[in-house]
Amino acid sequence: MTSSIHDSSIRGFASDNYSGVHPEVLAALAAANGGHQVSYGEDQYTEELGRVIASHFGDIATIFPVFNGTGANVTALQSLLPRWGAVICANSAHINVDENGAPERVGSMKLLSVPTPDGKLTPELIDLEAWGWGDEHRAQPLAVSLTQSTELGTLYTLEELRAITAHAHGKGMRVHMDGARLSNAAAALGVGLGEMTTGTGIDILSLGGTKNGIMFGEGIVALTEGPAESMKYLRKMNMQLASKMRFISAQLLALYGTDLWRTSAAHANAMAARLSAAVQATDGVELVYPTESNGVFAALPNAVADRLRERFRFYDWDRAAGQVRWMCSFDTTEADVDSFVAALGEELAAR
Ligand SMILES: Cc1ncc(COP(=O)(O)O)c(C=O)c1O
Repeated sequence: MTSSIHDSSIRGFASDNYSGVHPEVLAALAAANGGHQVSYGEDQYTEELGRVIASHFGDIATIFPVFNGTGANVTALQSLLPRWGAVICANSAHINVDENGAPERVGSMKLLSVPTPDGKLTPELIDLEAWGWGDEHRAQPLAVSLTQSTELGTLYTLEELRAITAHAHGKGMRVHMDGARLSNAAAALGVGLGEMTTGTGIDILSLGGTKNGIMFGEGIVALTEGPAESMKYLRKMNMQLASKMRFISAQLLALYGTDLWRTSAAHANAMAARLSAAVQATDGVELVYPTESNGVFAALPNAVADRLRERFRFYDWDRAAGQVRWMCSFDTTEADVDSFVAALGEELAAR
């Protein structure tokens, strides 16, 4: 019998990747085990996942399960671009700051990033880089990538998404959505996954899994035909084709084939709202961005943050500005939040 080697009572607010696997997902993995299934995606779990994804995103949608979010983003974007293509994104986009240059180095695309006040692009911000078509000296802006919910925990409304896709399409650019936390956004806005993507004109989506309680795996969901055709080859070239794909698909099925995606994400959002309310009621700490999904961004003295961090793990967001990020997960409890808030109060009082 194997036993844990970690202390499972240690919990924190560092990342929604720190949490474990939702018991229903673990059970789905176990249920997918045994016997033999065709490899590389010709299995029954992947076939069923295709049906579930169509029920959310419409019959046009095709899902390509992949290992991770960086792979999903790079591969999805490559499917939209020729060799000379460029992608307009926010400065704060994960593709720009947290993927070690993979879009440029592995995907061979240029990122044209623009500053935003809150992690959100607008047609006006897009236009800062949307120019120079036909000029052989400039990488051609042919795609826009936006993140929902954003890296700063903010949300695009459906109207904002529609305005962006209409604007981008009008200029001949296609739109990718990094939906690593799409479930948090849909749960927060009270809308369906398809309503927020297919319904707003998104062309291709990186669909999250890991941050919402699965062990590993994300999906690329092509919402238009062209990208779906090239994905077959790009996914393999980018080393994102899983041989035992049934185990990624079974997890995504557990999440998206039931209401688990929404209940888990809504819970994480509710815990962030609880933490955010406490922060707003506490002197000495301030919110940096509105709390709209499962992340709380706060400003407090670095020395206080450092002492608090000895009790609960979390990351600085911008050390120079004294900003930190606190993330909530599907398994964050009210008691976790309350003890964290109590510890925050103690460390602020000890200043
Ligand atoms: C917005 C966003 N996109 C994509 C990812 C996927 O990253 P990974 O390659 O670690 O799965 C993350 C993970 O932190 C993220 O926050």
